[in-house]
Amino acid sequence: MITDTELKEKWFKFFESKGFKRIDSYSIVPENDPTVLFTTAGMHPLVPYLLGAKHPAGNHICDIQRCMRTNDIDSVGDSSHLTSFEMLGNWFLGECDKEKMIKYSYEFLTSKEYLGIDKNRLAVSVFEGDETAPKDELAYNTWKKCGIDQVFYLSKEHNWWALGGGVGPCGPDTEMFYDTGKPKCGPNCSPACDCGKYLEIWNDVFMQFKVENAGEKAVLLARPNIDTGMGLERTVVVLNGLKSVYDAGVFKQVIDFIGSKAEVGYQDSESSKKSYRIITDHLRSAMFVLGDERGVVPSNVGQGYILRRFIRRAVNHARNIKFDTKYFADIIDIYVDKHGVDYKDIARNRQFIKDELVKEVEKFSKALDEGHKEFEKVLNGIEKHKQFAAQKGEVVENIISGKAVFRLFDTFGFPFEITKELAEERGYAVDEEGFKKAFEEHQEKSRTASAGTFKGGLADSSYESAKLHTATHLLMAGLRKMFGPQVMQKGSNITPERLRLDFNLDHKMLPEELAELEKFVNDAVAQEIDVVCEEMSIDKAKQSGAVGVFESKYGSVVKVYTIGNVSKEICGGPHAKNTRDLHHVKIVKEESSSSGIRRIKAILD
Ligand code: ALA
Repeated sequence: MITDTELKEKWFKFFESKGFKRIDSYSIVPENDPTVLFTTAGMHPLVPYLLGAKHPAGNHICDIQRCMRTNDIDSVGDSSHLTSFEMLGNWFLGECDKEKMIKYSYEFLTSKEYLGIDKNRLAVSVFEGDETAPKDELAYNTWKKCGIDQVFYLSKEHNWWALGGGVGPCGPDTEMFYDTGKPKCGPNCSPACDCGKYLEIWNDVFMQFKVENAGEKAVLLARPNIDTGMGLERTVVVLNGLKSVYDAGVFKQVIDFIGSKAEVGYQDSESSKKSYRIITDHLRSAMFVLGDERGVVPSNVGQGYILRRFIRRAVNHARNIKFDTKYFADIIDIYVDKHGVDYKDIARNRQFIKDELVKEVEKFSKALDEGHKEFEKVLNGIEKHKQFAAQKGEVVENIISGKAVFRLFDTFGFPFEITKELAEERGYAVDEEGFKKAFEEHQEKSRTASAGTFKGGLADSSYESAKLHTATHLLMAGLRKMFGPQVMQKGSNITPERLRLDFNLDHKMLPEELAELEKFVNDAVAQEIDVVCEEMSIDKAKQSGAVGVFESKYGSVVKVYTIGNVSKEICGGPHAKNTRDLHHVKIVKEESSSSGIRRIKAILD
């Protein structure tokens, strides 16, 4: 049995011995990337470096990155799907020596000192070629020279890697599979089929290309790279011949813990098993989001909405297995003990995670019983309607109207997806279009400032957020003017509705200090100053006196946002065009965030 901790240790020992420098995991909430809500792969935060910027740690790096992919959220509950996972990665930046990387991969997988897999139990796939890139004969031959028999040429569908959405650095890859030894499912059996003979464990991407805009052709990168990724949880399962990700490590610990408290057992039924797994997965993902330095909290937009769904769905499933939600905090402790080792912000934010989780659970629990009653009423209503219609020879479909779904959302706090899930369990569909319409009507009525709230994937790319971003810069400028240049931003979180800003200061701000700060910001708003963005080298930015926050994450060329002579900051944007667009900034709260760190919340009104 190899544990996740051992696999991690071996990974770093191996790559460090080859001269790779270990870097810290980046945030799970991407900074300044409005195209996605969460970091989806180890390479995601490294995109600027894969496109040519210089990484402060050098050209050979390795890490473990917390990642989240929520498109499969509805599949969680089976044996393999998770919403969050950890990815082991290593990179050659500006260098693409395929032979070297394949030999490294072979050595790590087969050497007794590392994974010690019998080479006959390995299969690999390589790119078969198309109009963009040729057949990868070099990769094929290198694997053969290593002594791997099962090397398959596969098409772009299987052996080309790009970020979801297809924009950014990309390229052909070679994927490594563990051959379970099962018989082939047919003459064409290969790693491309899902018969279960071949299980993927690692992926080396030869990032030689980039796609500039969606739908465009891939063009060669001036400085190609290698990006590799190994899913930690998945590989542990494969190497140990386990049936499910929930049978190992911290997941097993959590499943066992729930089992010791819940009235219904894990193995009692398919439905109880699913509930155990959903609680286990969703609370870990909620912990990853809440524990992150960027401090997302539950809300109805963007990352906050996904977080809300995780927590509320966990509450619903706890109900299914008669598991008291007061134990959720103990599960968070199990996860923080485990993950706080690699992700220091998680360890620091233990109490914050628990407090926010408990608040959200309480909020939802209060409405839950009423909501379930309401849900039953809605179903009864449909049944009555059906009977009535049947008498007239008409047929009524099992669809819950958008209005009813919206009422459950608005009054009882049932996220759309929870209602949909409950409905499906009972054989009903929901009118999604009708729900969106009711939602939008409501928004218009209440004139909430949350543009983009329920747009497709609930992405937050609104101008509201951009304006709050600009307000954050003005607040920082004011704080530094009032208390000195040692005051720096320590974190921020923006939704279309409010901003949250953390900064170092040795005292609680007095009411008159808050009033002075608010005045400073609103004076800048009243002056109607254009917000100007320029790109320049990091050295030039520093010389110009720009304030650099989280500097090490930026490449050699940075964006500098200047607001007249009020503020100059290195930042990825986006921002308001002119301070007048902010209208009026109101500070609604000042509180302690952690020792020596204060937190301000502000809105535009
Ligand atoms: N970026 C590659 C992956 O996620 C390594 O599989």
